[in-house]
Amino acid sequence: MARRKIIAGNWKMNKTPSEAKELVELLKPLVNNPDVDVVYCVPAVDITTVVEAVKGTNVAVGAENISDQDKGAYTGEISGDMLVDAGVKYVIIGHSERRGYYSEDDAFLNRKVKKAFEKGLTPILCCGESLEQRETGVTMDWIRLQIKSDLQGVTAEQAKTMVIAYEPIWAIGTGKTATADQAEEVCKGIRDTIAEIYDTDTAEKIRIQYGGSMNAGNCKELLAKPDIDGGLIGGASLKADFGQIVNYNK
Ligand code: G3P
Repeated sequence: MARRKIIAGNWKMNKTPSEAKELVELLKPLVNNPDVDVVYCVPAVDITTVVEAVKGTNVAVGAENISDQDKGAYTGEISGDMLVDAGVKYVIIGHSERRGYYSEDDAFLNRKVKKAFEKGLTPILCCGESLEQRETGVTMDWIRLQIKSDLQGVTAEQAKTMVIAYEPIWAIGTGKTATADQAEEVCKGIRDTIAEIYDTDTAEKIRIQYGGSMNAGNCKELLAKPDIDGGLIGGASLKADFGQIVNYNK
């Protein structure tokens, strides 16, 4: 069974609510591809504006973070219930920027993954190696550890529905994209790890994105690879180029 492609924009800390509305309107005529699931993962302050702005389109809205708690004295945090009530469907968890800048470790991220499923949200779980790890040949060892730790207690039925995003840290925001063969090798390794943890059916159904300087120029080659089911797009998601990535097969 062919897996539907999923192209998600990760807006990171960009776009005020007014700018978010403008971007959604700019992209509206450009992102209509019946073969592709399209998601805008946006800053929390933009969620209600973007949910309203994408009404009547095929675009789903994602968040960039979720609390591992339900409610209470956690200043600054945002709960799964808040995200669901606001119309959010996906949530990015474990982005290397959060792992790095905010010391989000695998135990914490595992709690976030389970909380997302508990609330009916689809996790986009990020993993990826540093340049040093790649150069020392431990890429798959590292990623296998991340996946096994972050999916503790997640059932096969849940895993089938989620998305994993392979994002080599050395390719994020650098313009230095992994080659399509490098990306395929790791995405296949991730799928093999899912088969090891669960079973081949789960491995076949889970969707795996590549992220790290994917753009209009390289998306066709990347998305043609058998184990790359989509992209998690940073910089290129903030401009009209995003439409060319969504329409990679046209
Ligand atoms: O989450 C996607 C992001 O990390 C990739 O960023 O700017 O390299 O596409 P960019």
